[in-house]
Amino acid sequence: MDPQAASSQAELETRDRARLRACVGVPGVLLVVTAGYAATRYVVFGPWALADLPLYVFNKATAWSALLLLALALGLGPAARIWPPLGGLLWRRRYWGVVGFVLATVHIVLSLSILNYGYYRLMFRQAFEFTALAGWSLLAGALAWMALVAPLAASLPGVRAAMSVRYWRVLQRVGLLGLSLTGLHLAYGVPGWWQPALWYGGLPPITLLSACAVVLVLALRLTVWVCGRRGAP
Ligand code: HEM
Repeated sequence: MDPQAASSQAELETRDRARLRACVGVPGVLLVVTAGYAATRYVVFGPWALADLPLYVFNKATAWSALLLLALALGLGPAARIWPPLGGLLWRRRYWGVVGFVLATVHIVLSLSILNYGYYRLMFRQAFEFTALAGWSLLAGALAWMALVAPLAASLPGVRAAMSVRYWRVLQRVGLLGLSLTGLHLAYGVPGWWQPALWYGGLPPITLLSACAVVLVLALRLTVWVCGRRGAP
C-alpha cells in the first residue's frame, strides 16, 4: 500500500473507532446501570425471581436505555445551545439515536414475547382482556416506534444530501413526536407513581424516571425555542 493510501486508511480507522465508541460506550454504560437498577428493584426488593432476569428484567433495562438514548439524541442540541461546552458531543447524537432505535425494537420483541396476564397483571382486566389504559398505552408505543423511523431514515448516509434542508428537518422533528408518544406510552404506569409506599425498596418506578427524561427534553426544546423567538442567545 502506498504511503498516501495507508495514511487515509489510518484516518478512516481513527474515525470508525470513535464512531464505534459512540455506539458502545454510553449505550453500554446505560444498559449496565439500568439493568442493575431493574434487578435491584424487581429481584432484590421485589417478588421476581432470578429466572425473570433474561426477559422480564432485561426488557426493562432495554426499554429504559432506549428512551434515555433517544432523549440524549434529541435533547443534546438544545442543551448545547444553553451550555456550549456540550457542543463537542453533538456528532454522537446520530449514533445514540440509532442505537436507541435498535434497543426500542428489541424491547418491542421482548415485550410481545411475554405480554400476558402472568407478567403484566396491571395491564389486564381479565386474563385475556387489556384495560383501556393499557390499550391506549400500547397504541402510543406502536405509534412512537413508527415516528422514530423518520429520524432514523434522516440519519442514513446520503439522505441529507438527497433531500431539501426543510424536509430533512421535518424528518428530524418527527423524532420529537416519537419521544412525546413514548411519554404517552408510559401512561400505564401512572397509577403506581402516586403510591411511594408500594415502591419496591423505595425505588421510584422506571416509568416515572423515564417520563422525567421526556419532560426534561421537551422543556429544554421549549426553552430554546422561546429564547430564540425573543432573540436571546
Ligand atoms: C409496539 C410497540 C411497543 C410495545 C408493544 C411495548 C410494550 C411495552 C410493555 C409491555 C411495557 C411494560 C414493561 C414492563 O412494565 O415491564 C413497556 C414499557 C416501556 N416501554 Fe414500551 N412498547 C412499545 C414501544 C416502545 C417504544 C418505541 C419505546 C421507546 C423507547 C418504549 C419504551 C418503554 C419504556 C421506557 C417502558 C417502561 C419500562 C418499565 O417501566 O419497566 N416502548 N412497553
